[in-house]
Amino acid sequence: MYDKVLRPKKELVLCEDGSNTLFSKEFNEPYHSTKDGALHESLEKHVKPAFSLKQSLPKLNILDLCFGLGYNTFATLYYIKQNNLQTKVHILSPEFDEALIHSLDSFDFPPEFDFLQAIIKAIAKNLYYEDEQFTIEILLGDAREEVPKITQKIDIIYQDAFSPAHNPLLWTREFFADIAKIAKDDAILTTYSTAAAIRLGLYENGFYIFIHRAELMRFSTVASFKMIEGFEYVDMELKKIRNTTAQSLRDKDYQ
Ligand SMILES: C[S@@+](CC[C@H](N)C(=O)[O-])C[C@H]1O[C@@H](n2cnc3c(N)ncnc32)[C@H](O)[C@@H]1O
Repeated sequence: MYDKVLRPKKELVLCEDGSNTLFSKEFNEPYHSTKDGALHESLEKHVKPAFSLKQSLPKLNILDLCFGLGYNTFATLYYIKQNNLQTKVHILSPEFDEALIHSLDSFDFPPEFDFLQAIIKAIAKNLYYEDEQFTIEILLGDAREEVPKITQKIDIIYQDAFSPAHNPLLWTREFFADIAKIAKDDAILTTYSTAAAIRLGLYENGFYIFIHRAELMRFSTVASFKMIEGFEYVDMELKKIRNTTAQSLRDKDYQ
């Protein structure tokens, strides 16, 4: 069971989909939208839109920002199993909260993750897991330092950091530039943020912006360097004309 003594700065929260998440007192924010639900949000805002475009590929490199409770990584493996995919997946996931990762083997995950018990245990112990199909690597440290060190070219980016209001340095134009450098030409980025400042930061780095709508879910953002089918295109030039005060976040304002 969850041990509150080990994690005094976090509280367990039950989401509306029945899955558990944490509330971070440090960032004053839950790890997931408690309304959308941790598992539901991972699947609907990140895994499904990304895999709708990428699941035919034999091998995928995924950047999961940041690992936290690992829902996005574990939901990816769940989706692959549910859909009998043979896709080989290498997940790279920065995270600076080492104690959190080590505690994950006792976190009360939803039953959908029961088949992942051995993988969760390995990650909690070694911050690493590998078998024939999956490699999961926690990049222990600050994402701003870890992302530029990545040498793999990335197919999918799950941008799931704490909100721009509470963790702005993971949403700046400069951080998106670092992400763009390691992304493949046809990479896809998913994020729950629909804020104009965030979309502008992505757009200024060459990403086209799209709206993703899922059932029982607030809409979210998908971004790609190429035009993509199945999502609603957002004309950022028009947005800029309509919202002349919107600006991307910049490192210099938060350092
Ligand atoms: C919203 S939670 C991520 C939720 C996660 N995707 C999940 O499914 O559980 C944000 C995570 O980012 C981590 N974090 C915040 N700032 C970071 C940074 N600069 N570098 C690395 N990790 C960071 C926090 O420790 C926290 O675990």
